[in-house]
Amino acid sequence: MRKIRFKGQKNTERKPCEGKEFFLNKITMLTVAVIAAIAPWIFYCCRVGHVYVDIIIFDGFCLTVFFIMIVNAAAAVVLALLRIKEKISLGNDGKKEKICYIAEIIVFSLTVLFTASWVACLGVMGAESAPVAGRMAAKSLPVALLVYGILFFALFFPAVTNKKARTAIGTVCIIAGIIGLTAAIFPFSKYEFVSDPMVIDTGEGYSVVFATTDNGTGYIEYTYDGDTYKLFDERGGRKVNARIHSFNVPYEHLEGNEYKVVSTRITDELSYGGRTGETIESKVYKFNRNKGEENKYLCISDWHTRLKEAYKATEHTDGYDGVILLGDAAPGLQYEEEAAEYIVKFGGDLTKGEKPVIYARGNHETRGKYASELGDALGLGDYYTDIKVGNRRFIVLDSAEDKEDSHPEYGGMADYSAYRERMVEWLEGLNAGENEEVIVICHDYEICREKELSERAIKALKNLGAKVILCGHYHEVGFGEKEGIPYYIDGGHTDNGMVVSTVEFRNGEILLNAVNGDGENVGSYKIS
Ligand SMILES: [Fe+2]
Repeated sequence: MRKIRFKGQKNTERKPCEGKEFFLNKITMLTVAVIAAIAPWIFYCCRVGHVYVDIIIFDGFCLTVFFIMIVNAAAAVVLALLRIKEKISLGNDGKKEKICYIAEIIVFSLTVLFTASWVACLGVMGAESAPVAGRMAAKSLPVALLVYGILFFALFFPAVTNKKARTAIGTVCIIAGIIGLTAAIFPFSKYEFVSDPMVIDTGEGYSVVFATTDNGTGYIEYTYDGDTYKLFDERGGRKVNARIHSFNVPYEHLEGNEYKVVSTRITDELSYGGRTGETIESKVYKFNRNKGEENKYLCISDWHTRLKEAYKATEHTDGYDGVILLGDAAPGLQYEEEAAEYIVKFGGDLTKGEKPVIYARGNHETRGKYASELGDALGLGDYYTDIKVGNRRFIVLDSAEDKEDSHPEYGGMADYSAYRERMVEWLEGLNAGENEEVIVICHDYEICREKELSERAIKALKNLGAKVILCGHYHEVGFGEKEGIPYYIDGGHTDNGMVVSTVEFRNGEILLNAVNGDGENVGSYKIS
């Protein structure tokens, strides 16, 4: 029935949209969508403060809020889109309009709450830690801009007129964003050891090294003399979060003993708080060291990432007691993954975590961003050392780079000349022992590229009674003499494929044999 309004009477009849204009407004909803979309990003960048909120409320509270923020952001974008496209419009008061109206109020309220949350988080972080949020935001800004830019383009850009294309781009972006975000917090990739551990003889003990497929912490566990040892890879008490871990263990603790290694994945490491993932445990290894006069070593240089070729060549070598790695694992070490794959995995695969490795650095391990971290990661420090095994003495030297420090190849990062000088001074300070068999291990038999340093090094080695220099670098099998000291070039990646060598100590003689991937002997030498 039609209502009758008398003269002077106020019109109390409400229009369908009256009082709702603020929420039904395109500009309002677009603004809400933008603020709602930014909220999870900023909140995540403020996560250094989350730990304190979680302690008060419950563990995982902030992560829950973070995911609700994402859902809210998606809802805000959809609602803004519906409003802009006038799928819902002022003047209608149907069921759809009512649902959207309620949804818009909820999204608006949550967006205000979430914005207040990240502002509060910044407040909790305070003046000292708030810049951390800025650094995190700056670091993730390119990704954030890309995600938001593509979404905005797909959903709002007028030029995209094809409805199906718009829907497809928007859907792909949202799914990719959700998958990417989830993977960043809960990685999909499997966390595992890349190989058995590699046990390096450092001259002062053993460095047990292992690598994993992602960053994490690690420890070694063994029992010695009735005591159980659980040694973490740590620096100054803080566990190291890395792919490669090393543990310095005294000789007597490991020889003839069992050990295992354990690692926990770290998915987020922060100034305050952080997040751990799964924990993996190795099998139990039984480590053995042949300290007798009769001994056999597998000797490999210059594998230059060719692990499979090297493994094939080693199939033709009989059982060996240890492995001597003579360097040049990869073109350079830009990333930790390269050291994990081409050094730790290689050494671990060849020894199964149960035989010692003697490692000499190649010139290619001196190149790249990770090169300066390698020694610490392997538990070595400098790369020259003095190893005594029974009456045998291995003097490990580091020829470092084969070009002058100023060569453009090193990008201004080389100071190897001074390093070699220190090494030669150390070498000159060594004393000869009685009845020792001195074996020199160095990537290049020249020892140093500087003539004067090279002569001093060779003279010192002669004084120590060096019997042979085992080396690589030249990608061939060769035998020669340097100022009266025999040297043996063990092969490596040659023009005819990968060649590895065995070095046998038998009846007071040193037998040197080179074998290629087809099992052919490509060099035999004997030093009496
Ligand atoms: Fe080399």
